[in-house]
Amino acid sequence: MRRALALAAQGRGSVEPNPMVGAVVLDAGGAVVGEGWHERFGGPHAEVHALAIAGDHARGGTLAVTLEPCCHHGKTPPCTDAVVASGVRRVVAATADPFPKVAGGGVARLREAGVEVEVGVCEAEAVRLNAAYLKLLRTGRPWVHLKWAMTLDGKTATRTRDSKWISGEESRRRVHELRGVVDAVLVGRGTVESDDPLLTARPPGPRTAARVVLTASGRLPERCRLRATAREAPVVVFTAAGHEAALAGWAADGAEVVALPAGDGGLSVDAVLAELGRRRMTHVLVEGGAGVHGAFLDARAVDELHAFVAPVLVGGAHATGVTGGLGVETMAAALRAGEFAAEMSGADVYLRGRFDAPPGTAVPGLQ
Ligand SMILES: NC(=O)c1ccc[n+]([C@@H]2O[C@H](COP(=O)([O-])OP(=O)(O)OC[C@H]3O[C@@H](n4cnc5c(N)ncnc54)[C@H](OP(=O)(O)O)[C@@H]3O)[C@@H](O)[C@H]2O)c1
Repeated sequence: MRRALALAAQGRGSVEPNPMVGAVVLDAGGAVVGEGWHERFGGPHAEVHALAIAGDHARGGTLAVTLEPCCHHGKTPPCTDAVVASGVRRVVAATADPFPKVAGGGVARLREAGVEVEVGVCEAEAVRLNAAYLKLLRTGRPWVHLKWAMTLDGKTATRTRDSKWISGEESRRRVHELRGVVDAVLVGRGTVESDDPLLTARPPGPRTAARVVLTASGRLPERCRLRATAREAPVVVFTAAGHEAALAGWAADGAEVVALPAGDGGLSVDAVLAELGRRRMTHVLVEGGAGVHGAFLDARAVDELHAFVAPVLVGGAHATGVTGGLGVETMAAALRAGEFAAEMSGADVYLRGRFDAPPGTAVPGLQ
């Protein structure tokens, strides 16, 4: 199953909004005779690949698969048919699939056909791997990654708002890699004004993320790189109802302008996430600035953290810090990462945290 999980992870960025799935087929004697993973959205499922490689060797053997085989006609025929036809005696699945059209139906179908089924092997690892898929199904909201680069003294720009570059080349390479596997890269108006970012993945990854800007006021610059490239990669501007007219030029240049509910603090973070989830976006990478990071923290809408800490000090009481927003009153109310780990990234330190696990959870290898 661990091998099947490692295979599954190779689908990251290519399969969403489907789950990542891997499969290994063992023959009757326990030798590996087939392997596969779900490689791209709409393509064959993992068990179909693995069983095709195994061919007749699967007969009387075991299929280990990281997710309950599907039993419905989606983009591909039901995997349960392929499993039954293969003649395997036993299926071991890491987790059941909560997808409404499956949800135990795959297991039931296999048992009806006389296949022995066991569910729950390496379940925690499989749930961790597909946490974003499971969250989108459960809540209709994407998995939220917060990313920033900061100085050793916690600043994301100098007092003159200079921010290029804080982190080194290796860290920036990793950020581009992240952009290439998510569905949306999101920033606030302040970041567009100060940094004029492109927010694309360079080199491109398996996915092209929509570039999302939050501006309740609709006061975005008339000239900037995001607007100039809106026909090359999608740009979505979320604004408060009644402010769309201020963004007519952006719309004319190819950006999509969407009105969302807003309050005194800006756009509703939950409305932003609900809209991205409605579009079946699985991962959103929030790249700042402080105002937007603070809003996501205040809404407790953070699942994963990527912080790059550079070995530089800039000082300045008015230099921008990492987070704005209201913040919590007491340390007891702090958002605390469950998994938390550090590794070097060139001369920087790359800190990763996940907030879905209980505090102190061991990190099973950085992926
Ligand atoms: N080092 C890094 O990793 C990094 C990354 C990004 C940015 N930065 C730096 O951060 C600075 C920009 O940060 P910032 O705080 O000024 O701007 P920001 O967070 O990028 O944008 C804030 C703006 O977003 C809009 N917004 C809409 N809904 C919001 C909500 N619910 N909460 C908060 N804002 C909302 C508001 O614009 P409206 O007024 O139009 O409603 C608000 O003024 C720049 O100096 C930039 O260089 C650093």
